[in-house]
Amino acid sequence: METSERQFIKYGDDDFVYKEKPKLNPDVRVNMVSRLMKKYNLNTEEATTFLEYILDLDLSIEQLAGKRILDVGSGPGEFKIALEKIAGKSNVVNLDGGSVWRGTFDVQGMADKLPFRNESFDLVIAHCSVPIMTATTGDPLEIPQILSEIIRVVKRGGLIKIYPVIVHDRYADSKMAEKHHNLADETMKKLSEMSKNNQFSEAVINIVRDSNSGNFDGMLEIRK
Ligand SMILES: C[S@@+](CC[C@H](N)C(=O)[O-])C[C@H]1O[C@@H](n2cnc3c(N)ncnc32)[C@H](O)[C@@H]1O
Repeated sequence: METSERQFIKYGDDDFVYKEKPKLNPDVRVNMVSRLMKKYNLNTEEATTFLEYILDLDLSIEQLAGKRILDVGSGPGEFKIALEKIAGKSNVVNLDGGSVWRGTFDVQGMADKLPFRNESFDLVIAHCSVPIMTATTGDPLEIPQILSEIIRVVKRGGLIKIYPVIVHDRYADSKMAEKHHNLADETMKKLSEMSKNNQFSEAVINIVRDSNSGNFDGMLEIRK
């Protein structure tokens, strides 16, 4: 086990459950992308992004069907486009704070102040966006606020899925590695606090070992 994971897991002793996911063979992944492209008429980006979301966030079509979903940091919105082609329709709201993807998202807004009423969504997903991934280049102090906002807008009984939770750049120097450990610590501290305040009912970390880059790991699943 790598140091970053060991340090991360110490918060799990009291409040959290950790699950391991099996590794997916890269050939199988390539095969799945080309099948998605052919079957649903997706382009490469749509098929690749859709597959990444499904695998990294451990989602199933059944889980998505009929649900009002918020995609935080949706970027070019390929997940929503692909889901609409695959399922025929979707109820996904794409939110992004950046100007780069303007025109592709439904709502421009920042994750630390979500422009939605309490309990608006059945499922909130954040893939390679907030709060951990952006905190590697931004401000780790945003982590608690973003988690609070995401938990606020999901319905009671609803689900939140965030990937990645762990960033461990194998080429990082010791200073950078320490920063990454601190980000995971920030997240887990905040979740411990919120759990004690009864703001959600359960949090589970899935350690995903088949991430494409090898630098990102861990899917955080929160049930409200
Ligand atoms: C690496 S892209 C990921 C896009 C998409 N989720 C995917 O996986 O293909 C990260 C996105 O998060 C957005 N983002 C970063 N910080 C944000 C914040 N605090 N609030 C809203 N969006 C944010 C960026 O503008 C960018 O489009």
